[in-house]
Amino acid sequence: MAEIETFSIIDLHPTPADMAAVVLRGLEQRPRQLPAWLLYDQQGSLLFDEICKQPEYTLKRTELELLQKHANSFCAQIPANSLVLEFGAGSAEKVGPLLQALSNPAYIALDISARHLQEAGKRLQAKFASVPMQGICADYSRALELPLSAEWSQRLRLGFFPGSSLGNFEPAEASAFLMRLKQLLGPNGALLIGIDQPRPKAQLEAAYNDAAGFSAAFARNLLLRLQRDLNAEVDPWGFSYKAEWQSEQQRIAMALVSNGEQRLQLLGQEVIFKPGEILITEYSYKYSPKAFQSLAASAGWSSQQRHCDAADSYSLHLLV
Ligand code: AVI
Repeated sequence: MAEIETFSIIDLHPTPADMAAVVLRGLEQRPRQLPAWLLYDQQGSLLFDEICKQPEYTLKRTELELLQKHANSFCAQIPANSLVLEFGAGSAEKVGPLLQALSNPAYIALDISARHLQEAGKRLQAKFASVPMQGICADYSRALELPLSAEWSQRLRLGFFPGSSLGNFEPAEASAFLMRLKQLLGPNGALLIGIDQPRPKAQLEAAYNDAAGFSAAFARNLLLRLQRDLNAEVDPWGFSYKAEWQSEQQRIAMALVSNGEQRLQLLGQEVIFKPGEILITEYSYKYSPKAFQSLAASAGWSSQQRHCDAADSYSLHLLV
């Protein structure tokens, strides 16, 4: 089979004007909240990779082990020549076991962080030289029309949504997103999805506030990014970081807390933060297997296979 040497990207990243509108809308909310995809510029993607290496944050290592162990069993259900669509590919380190286990796959990596995606795609293409690949830089949480060639459009689709990124959506948005995936992947499509489960509060809070400070730096980078990309005037060091398990909602809330009264200026608009006022940078919802299966069912999916780690704290579900 022919070897492919390049990894190309279709760039559908929101424009600075779109980003500024999203930021201003989020700052008007109470509590103020920005969408999680804004965390991932090049710097944010690198900081997230560091979080994944911290001893407190076991999610990525656990998921990789599960994928290595069960890829053959998941892929036994997937026809040859399928198109794997990964949502939020990040460093694209997790799809390897699937590409190995599938017969003649093609691969599309979607991610919001263009340069990170380009570098990750190049590394993956070098490893799987015969697999046709394409990158799409986009906010995949929005409705997407995939720009596919006629040959790729005919392939059956396997969605791959690892890392428990579904947890970064509000439950109603998560259900709507799963419905959209159902449409996008087609009537014979399947979805392999990773889901982090509730665990003791102390464990979860440590995972989202690591001792080395990468979680805090990741959140603060959001404000640094507003300075870099949108010329916002704001003091990122005037905020402290906090991560709190909210058991009623079964979620970790990550926030920047204003150390005093201060102003943020963007596009001639001024936002005043009171002392102690929070800016939610992200929620991370956790789902028990039962809670997730009922969320998936509400979106028209049924679970065909589930594998979890020894502690039953993380699972991979194959939905059809
Ligand atoms: C990408 N996502 C699933 C991570 C999570 O665990 O919610 C994002 C994250 N933010 C801080 N630490 C990890």
